[in-house]
Amino acid sequence: MTREERLQLAHTPPAWMYEFDLGEGILTPLLSRELRQIHRTRQDMILPALDRCFREGLANLDCLDVACNEGYFSFLLHSLGARVRGIDVRSLNVERARAVQRIQGQDSARLTFAVEDFLDNRDPPDRYHLTLFLGLLYHLENPMGALRILHRVTRRLCVVETQLTRQQDPVVSGWGAAGTFLELPAALAIYREPDVEENRLAAHRGLSFIPNAAAVREMLGAAGFSRVELVAPPADANPQYLAQDRAVFLAFK
Ligand SMILES: C[S@@+](CC[C@H](N)C(=O)[O-])C[C@H]1O[C@@H](n2cnc3c(N)ncnc32)[C@H](O)[C@@H]1O
Repeated sequence: MTREERLQLAHTPPAWMYEFDLGEGILTPLLSRELRQIHRTRQDMILPALDRCFREGLANLDCLDVACNEGYFSFLLHSLGARVRGIDVRSLNVERARAVQRIQGQDSARLTFAVEDFLDNRDPPDRYHLTLFLGLLYHLENPMGALRILHRVTRRLCVVETQLTRQQDPVVSGWGAAGTFLELPAALAIYREPDVEENRLAAHRGLSFIPNAAAVREMLGAAGFSRVELVAPPADANPQYLAQDRAVFLAFK
């Protein structure tokens, strides 16, 4: 790709979710400065966890990056030697990921991108040693359906990163008879996303369910994962992680 073409790729709106180096000093412009710290925090939380869970390394292991957007975490897993498939429901995101791959020259035998709605995924059971499910749970109308698919296709570990509500107290609900109540610690908040058409970072349907931390554990357990761990953020993490408005969970098959 010529310098002119790379400049055009970088600077044709919308701004990017990730800052990619396209060579000769050309960086893709970020749509918000905070994203740089968010990505750094997630990397700092996820990479040590992968080291711990895959002591043999990721070389030649199969990985799925669900909702890969422009592919940043797919590129990261590829750089660790994995065979990676990145999928996203939006074609612009996948076109950008492919363009970055063409420029940076990552091995196309080990890294592919596809436009796919994860809810339509037809991969066989245990297809991927590692699945990444970052920034998607709270954008879905059918989060439990997605987690069941995720459990089916994951062989060992799934990394889930999500926005969380601050609901700590149990939700009290009537239950079948006057004076009978349930106290339910796991809760989902409904969010009607206002910008589904324009926002290529968000849901592609209108309604989303934002979980609290107890709900993430409950849902991953119900999907079949045997153990769920919350990853502690480092001291210099983005404030959203320190406040537990966002969190990273490890779900073991
Ligand atoms: C907040 S971004 C997260 C991107 C990336 N995973 C990350 O965490 O850096 C949410 C992404 O989910 C994608 N997405 C939304 N619904 C999807 C679905 N049903 N299947 C696949 N991707 C979806 C969007 O297009 C967008 O790229």
